[in-house]
Amino acid sequence: MNPTMNFPEHFLWGTATAAHQVEGNNTNSDSWVLEHLPDTIFAEPSGDAIDHYHRYAEDIALVAQLGFNSYRFSIEWARVEPEPGCFSMAVLDHYRRMCETCHQYGLKPVATYHHFTSPRWLVSQGGWHEPETAEKFANYCQKVTRHCGDLIEAICTINEINIPHMAAHIWMEEDDDKERMGRFIMQAARAFQVPPDRLGAFMFCGTEDARSIVLAAHHQARQAIKAERPSLPVGLTIAMEDMQAVDGGEAVRNEIRRELQDLYLEAARDDDFVGVQTYSRERFGQDGRLGPQEGVELTQMRYEYWPQAIGATLRYAHQVAGVPLMVTENGIGTQDDTRRLAYFQTALQSVADCLRDGLDIRGYFAWSSFDNFEWMFGYRPQFGIVAVNRATQERVVKPSAHWLGKVAQSNRF
Ligand code: BGC
Repeated sequence: MNPTMNFPEHFLWGTATAAHQVEGNNTNSDSWVLEHLPDTIFAEPSGDAIDHYHRYAEDIALVAQLGFNSYRFSIEWARVEPEPGCFSMAVLDHYRRMCETCHQYGLKPVATYHHFTSPRWLVSQGGWHEPETAEKFANYCQKVTRHCGDLIEAICTINEINIPHMAAHIWMEEDDDKERMGRFIMQAARAFQVPPDRLGAFMFCGTEDARSIVLAAHHQARQAIKAERPSLPVGLTIAMEDMQAVDGGEAVRNEIRRELQDLYLEAARDDDFVGVQTYSRERFGQDGRLGPQEGVELTQMRYEYWPQAIGATLRYAHQVAGVPLMVTENGIGTQDDTRRLAYFQTALQSVADCLRDGLDIRGYFAWSSFDNFEWMFGYRPQFGIVAVNRATQERVVKPSAHWLGKVAQSNRF
């Protein structure tokens, strides 16, 4: 193990959340509709979540008190623009107050403009299958930047821009889920009054046309943001597994990696940074995905406990995109907080090694600040460094939060 080192001056040490996963009652979003379908694939609905929409001030104060200097959260398009072209000043003011509260407590706000959820109306208009969505998204980004941009440190336009394709790959392979998925898609299409093959909810859009639309949305958004505030750093974030080839699996791995990572990293070459989001590794043999290796511990998400993956993906992102990097998400779903602490230890060691090798890494954000709504898996997985009793909404700090906060405060690892 290498000796400790100082992290760069101005390094962002933060924790991250996403609006739909914490705010509660995001009733105007597409996800709310999907969660309430009769044959939904969501384990439970998001409901009140952890009521972050109302409790943000105490939540932000807590993140600051733990020792962090930044907070990454997302702005909810479905709230900001509840009907096409109708922008809510009250909601824009809400997000401005969140930014102000961050500053009040010494946290630099990093804002994500799209974190999986979209307004219901957008999906009824074809969503991410519809080329005009790029312009609609850019227009919303411009409005938010005009209202809050002076208080924001950096913007992630689209969170995990490659997730629709990753999801499509995985769902293609999971035979037993096909029937259930088919029923769900039919019901969703009926709810949004679109043909089933045109269901434009972000996570379910793994087609070629949707890929070019999300990339166009990112590029147009970046332009719109820069037109408002030229010096504000803008990037997208990518879900990156450490894709390893074993037993002659290089060709297969390279082909899938090109589809799921390279195309997006290449599209980010003119950005100010790339947000790398890594949780685990994936192994590929000559016939494709191999699944978890025997003997390797699994997390609550049923993938491997593999904290060193972050170092490998940072190096790969650097090699392909060649722009500054930010770890915008990294963490583990586990009931055992000692495993979370150990995970952060190994992960940070691999980040430190990358810094030592000269990679330009601007920040590290733990996923997540709080236990929250883990999409289809509901509230069972626990990614938070702070637990939440959802009956009382009481926040309970876990030991890993104190540990990571201290590292953040010392800026040394
Ligand atoms: C997403 C988060 C999610 C996390 C843990 C990332 O894919 O950005 O919304 O909760 O991973 O699964």
